[in-house]
Amino acid sequence: MSITSSAPWQALATLATAHKNEHMRDWFNNEPNRAAQFTQSACGINIDFSKNTITQGIFDQLLALADTANVVQARANMFAGQPINYTENRAVLHTALRNFGDAPIYVDGENVLPAVQATRAKIKAFTESLHNGTHTGYTGKAITDVVSIGIGGSFLGPKIMTEALLPYHANKLKVHFVANVDGCHIQDVLAQRDPETTLVLMSSKSFGTQETKQNTLTAKAWFLGTGAPAEAIATHFAAISSNVPAAVEFGMNPELVFPMDDWVGGRYSLWSAIGMPIALAIGYEHFEALLKGAFAMDQHFQSAPAEQNLPMILGMLGVWYRNFQDAQSHVLLPYYHYLRGFPAYVQQLDMESNGKRNVADGSAVDYATGPIIFGSEGTNGQHSFHQLIHQGDTIIPADFIMPLRVPNQDDTHHAMLASNCFGQTQALMQGKTFDECRAELPDALSDAEKDTLAAHKVMPGNKPSNTITFEQLDPFTLGALVALYEHKVFVQGVVWGVNSFDQWGVELGKVLGNQVLDAIHSGDMHASMDSSTQALINQFRDSLK
Ligand code: F6P
Repeated sequence: MSITSSAPWQALATLATAHKNEHMRDWFNNEPNRAAQFTQSACGINIDFSKNTITQGIFDQLLALADTANVVQARANMFAGQPINYTENRAVLHTALRNFGDAPIYVDGENVLPAVQATRAKIKAFTESLHNGTHTGYTGKAITDVVSIGIGGSFLGPKIMTEALLPYHANKLKVHFVANVDGCHIQDVLAQRDPETTLVLMSSKSFGTQETKQNTLTAKAWFLGTGAPAEAIATHFAAISSNVPAAVEFGMNPELVFPMDDWVGGRYSLWSAIGMPIALAIGYEHFEALLKGAFAMDQHFQSAPAEQNLPMILGMLGVWYRNFQDAQSHVLLPYYHYLRGFPAYVQQLDMESNGKRNVADGSAVDYATGPIIFGSEGTNGQHSFHQLIHQGDTIIPADFIMPLRVPNQDDTHHAMLASNCFGQTQALMQGKTFDECRAELPDALSDAEKDTLAAHKVMPGNKPSNTITFEQLDPFTLGALVALYEHKVFVQGVVWGVNSFDQWGVELGKVLGNQVLDAIHSGDMHASMDSSTQALINQFRDSLK
């Protein structure tokens, strides 16, 4: 039976119609307690979700829907290591990677925690050996730079968390990230490196990703091309992978291959050895604090009642907009420069997890699933795409994210930043009426001119947003924030009945990309190629002549 025929779903559909013509502005005027009523906090993160188009009745039904969808049971199954990634028959245990408790977690009858702890110890030892100079380059010089090569989850988590924690950098190593197979990037990064003091770190769960392999081959060729001896590869190249044999076969020193398990999804892997670049940048203690923040959010997610449960609240608000308000997208607006990459991080997390259309038995859903995720740092977006959020003919729920304090606080700047952040949420919610706009126009205008201009200036308001604040974005808080979004996505995936942990949709493009590459080199078109693709290949080949 489809979730759409459940009682809470039906009730929500009715409530959506019943409240269709109401405005949040009036709710705030009539409900002095509204902000307190719809604010919750945990793990140092405060969420004011009062500027959403929900009443207490709608909120209650959203939580009832989560209950009907059995989110609680699904959550227990995930944390217990059940193979909930059923299309790949795998457990989903990124939570085990940041588990600092004693209770064993079993996969196929084996407690995974000892291996998790061993890998953490390996990350710590390697980080320290680079920081204290015991692991040197082949000429005895200390390593100063790390070129971290990986893509997707083997790139976004490490890069964006490293960037977000800039104030916590140990300043021992500079970490440079390369993802795209576009040669411009790797060449630019390598051109500025000294091979004697550079370590290349290849991150690939599968060890089969074309972009990552090619970039690493290019790095190897550069390294050897500078005159470095072949045996120096063993100290200047390291790898992180769940496919250790492939890494060794590729020429990696087995002692510098850091393992990960197949029950860690790529986009959930920053807590594993894939997070090594973060540890190298900020030091192991801060890396552990990041894990502990995520662990705190895991505990909150597992134990807090639904109405106080931050991932549950964010997840079900998203369901409200996607399924009952026709929202196509969701925007993330970090008001903190160092968190500028966070929308891209959540974009992969959410869209690769819930961009699906089939439920467990293979049948197609008859309701909307994952939204389009986009965003950028505030205030930059205010001078760009916020126009459409304010006045466009579509609803784009927004998450405003802001630390109350920043390192090296400059009160002038930070107060302006905060005022823009909070002011945007107010403008989106309240809007500006026709009469308010008209009253501000110069008397010199005719009535007709005033009517026309005022119509253009009307801000409809009633646009939803969450405001997510915390004291400072320290490693602990960042860990909690990332885990918050992971679990939000999980809650939604359960309600929609999709498998949030596979990504079959990315496969066809990889296969066809390889066929195109063959055709570019050989000129032989594959039988399946359409005339457009053939023409593009010929155009490319002609340009090489
Ligand atoms: O193509 C998608 C994807 O499989 C992501 O899910 C993953 O994070 C990325 O590619 C990189 O994969 P790998 O770590 O195996 O190189």
